Amino acid sequence: MKKFIQNPVTRRNFIKKSGLSIATTTLVINAPFIITSHAAPDDPIKIGLIGCGGRGTGAALDAVNAATNVIYPDSGYHTEDAKEGAKVGAKNVQIVAMGDAFEDRLMASRQQLQNVGMEVSRENCFVGFDAYKKVLSIPEINYVILATPPHFRPQHLRAAVEAGKNAFIEKPVAVDAAGVRSVIESGELAKQKGLTIGAGTQRRRDNAMRELVQRIHNGEIGDIRSGVARWLLGELWYIAPQEGWSDMEKQLRNWEYFNWLSGDIIVEQFIHSIDLMNWVMQSTPTKAVGIGGREVRTDPVLFGNVFDHFAVQYEYPNDATVFCLDRQTNGCANFIDDEIIGANGRASFAYIKTGYKNKDGKSWRFRGERNNPYQEEHNELIQAIRNGTPINEAKQAAESTLTAIMGREAAYSGQEITWEAAMHAKQDFTLPKYEFGSVPVAPVPVPGKYKFE
Ligand SMILES: NC(=O)c1ccc[n+]([C@@H]2O[C@H](COP(=O)([O-])OP(=O)(O)OC[C@H]3O[C@@H](n4cnc5c(N)ncnc54)[C@H](O)[C@@H]3O)[C@@H](O)[C@H]2O)c1
Repeated sequence: MKKFIQNPVTRRNFIKKSGLSIATTTLVINAPFIITSHAAPDDPIKIGLIGCGGRGTGAALDAVNAATNVIYPDSGYHTEDAKEGAKVGAKNVQIVAMGDAFEDRLMASRQQLQNVGMEVSRENCFVGFDAYKKVLSIPEINYVILATPPHFRPQHLRAAVEAGKNAFIEKPVAVDAAGVRSVIESGELAKQKGLTIGAGTQRRRDNAMRELVQRIHNGEIGDIRSGVARWLLGELWYIAPQEGWSDMEKQLRNWEYFNWLSGDIIVEQFIHSIDLMNWVMQSTPTKAVGIGGREVRTDPVLFGNVFDHFAVQYEYPNDATVFCLDRQTNGCANFIDDEIIGANGRASFAYIKTGYKNKDGKSWRFRGERNNPYQEEHNELIQAIRNGTPINEAKQAAESTLTAIMGREAAYSGQEITWEAAMHAKQDFTLPKYEFGSVPVAPVPVPGKYKFE
């Protein structure tokens, strides 16, 4: 198992070795747009969790264990040390505040953290649409995990950067063009402030995928001709509405099925494959055409206004074409398999056969110890914060999100959508205000009638 590497140069001995006085360092730290949230390698990481659902709680546990590299229970990576690990992790990395729209979600998450020995005080638990502001107002927090439904990500990221916090932002990072532009701007602001922003597109931290991408970039399957991305799976969870729930509560609790909250399935789930394609192509696509609809999940009360299948074709500047198939329907063949076809071979990113085969008989398959990319995300971000060497993935994550939005809009409208048009689109799902009341649901888009703007 890989160890989390602590940089042996602490802030105190850095000051000693470099001959800088405390007064000089203070002057530097007080200068505008210089690192404001930099912790030295031996300083604590204090985390605020915003969005305490399944992934937010998982990310918090990953972050805690990132300090010790002990992997948490129920992940499939269980070790006997897990509970002890969280305690050890607590010395260096702590969850100190939590915020969620709903108290029951927050308390369930808090209990899960408690189960591994991580106590979050009741007074640092905030509920409601402004919970994120209360978490961000806690001065000692130097790392926030943003894991609400993606609709809120641009707003929460902007506030986090303005408050001088490093951030882990779950994918996707927006649901519309306005949100994408906002995340890119927040990324720029974070750069000026020396803050780290890492994204939850975890394939980029999977050691096998990293090696395969490197080999493709080295030309081991020849020039890239095309890509095929398939994410063909069954239906997701659904929470039956309870009496007394407002429209807002019904939609928030089943956010996956409302495109203003999730971005639709191609943005919310398929972004992993799209992000992989952008990574391999080292570019974003120039245009997209697509088809899609809802064939099985048609009940508007249960399934809001999202599609249950998409097929999108993207063109990239290197003349490569990427074909995408995305589906969430039960009773069909299930598989996730992304492939890259080169002039001299074919590479597969399927988990169990990550590797390639060449026409001349040469082949390679990853045979090493597979890492846990969800944990690696936090290992790398925490190390970047402690070392004062910021990582900034805001633009990359925003571009992958926009690639998915461009495919969605191509399928919704039936039109060909260019990158420029997608980036400058007027689309903005922001509500005038956020409160538990009525929220009308937009009709299911009909290709040929729906207008992309
Ligand atoms: N990287 C991955 O593999 C991966 C896996 C699953 C989910 N995700 C992403 O993580 C995010 C969360 O997904 P999830 O599965 O945890 O969903 P979830 O429904 O379990 O959790 C979302 C939480 O956010 C809370 N919330 C909603 N609106 C809020 C607001 N305005 N302010 C504060 N809290 C709010 C909800 O009450 C809920 O507790 C999504 O963007 C999803 O796409 C990523």
